[in-house]
Amino acid sequence: MTLIESFYPVLKPWLFKLDAERAHTFTVKMMIIAHRLGMLKSVVSGTPQSRDVMGLTFPNVLGLAAGMDKSASAVEAWGSLGFGSVEVGTLTPRPQPGNPKPRLFRLPEHEALINRMGFNNPGIQSAVKKLENRRTKAVVGVNIGKNFDTPNEDAVKDYLICLKAAYRVADYIAVNISSPNTKGLRDLQAEGAVRELIAALKNEQAALKKEHGKTVPLLVKIAPDLNDMQIEALARVFNEQHIDGVIATNTTIDRTAVAGHRLEKEAGGLSGAPVRERSNLVLQAFRMLLKEQIPIIGVGGIVHGTDAKEKMKAGASLVQVYSGLVYRGPALVREVLESVI
Ligand SMILES: Cc1cc2nc3c(=O)[nH]c(=O)nc-3n(C[C@H](O)[C@H](O)[C@H](O)COP(=O)(O)O)c2cc1C
Repeated sequence: MTLIESFYPVLKPWLFKLDAERAHTFTVKMMIIAHRLGMLKSVVSGTPQSRDVMGLTFPNVLGLAAGMDKSASAVEAWGSLGFGSVEVGTLTPRPQPGNPKPRLFRLPEHEALINRMGFNNPGIQSAVKKLENRRTKAVVGVNIGKNFDTPNEDAVKDYLICLKAAYRVADYIAVNISSPNTKGLRDLQAEGAVRELIAALKNEQAALKKEHGKTVPLLVKIAPDLNDMQIEALARVFNEQHIDGVIATNTTIDRTAVAGHRLEKEAGGLSGAPVRERSNLVLQAFRMLLKEQIPIIGVGGIVHGTDAKEKMKAGASLVQVYSGLVYRGPALVREVLESVI
């Protein structure tokens, strides 16, 4: 066990006494310092397992899910910690403050979080600037969305602005149409809306490919709260529009798994262990329906190494974590990498 791994269990009780968002900000700052001091170096030594997916070489299967590094301020540190990929964002065309605080809650009894952050972010240009000089072996994905005050009729424009801005610095682009915290965003998952959006983005991707001489894969991130008909409709569009990959899933608005908890009624998306089962079912359903060449990144409820293994079994080519990292710390990185070899 490395120093940083053994440090987290000591730090965690203190962090959990802080407000969840403050603890998050503090931890990321600490990580950046630890990285600069060279303390993050050896967490995953001895477990190299690179994967070629979507024309990219991922140093390993584990990625940091979107939302942890919304401003792309710590990609090197995440890479040093052992992540094979880091998905920054969600980023919107203009900076925005997000929802009023408090907007992030822990449910330790369930190894879960509820968040209604609302795409607090410094704007796509700021993130692009940070990524220009990145020095990390990790694959960097840029997750894009629309501003909260952009009506859905104009959503395509927002996504196009972000795609054009990020194309040069991104290894892949994730199109987020599944956050529950931006009013109406999930309506973009309706068949007509998603077809229009992806057609426009794929068209722009082809133009940008010519301009920049590189292909940046385009993935769509979907919600776990989709019924069978919605899943079939989305898969139809993804196949027909030749989407490069799917990320399954975002947080859930369903509270069944945490019924009776004092924070059950907090608005927002639930993540961590309670979303795992539903997330895996959605992943499995998409794997059955999508063309074989369209890979799926599995995310939702990975708290132990075995959860990651389960996702790979359900059809994921790669996996990501967010909430599990809050509960388990850097030990989860090693555990996942060791269990999916
Ligand atoms: C505090 C918080 C903020 C998040 N922000 C974003 C975001 O900006 N964009 C996004 O696509 N997903 C976001 N997510 C969703 C995660 O990327 C992930 O899909 C979800 O939490 C399920 O994974 P987990 O169970 O490992 O946390 C966020 C999750 C949390 C907990």
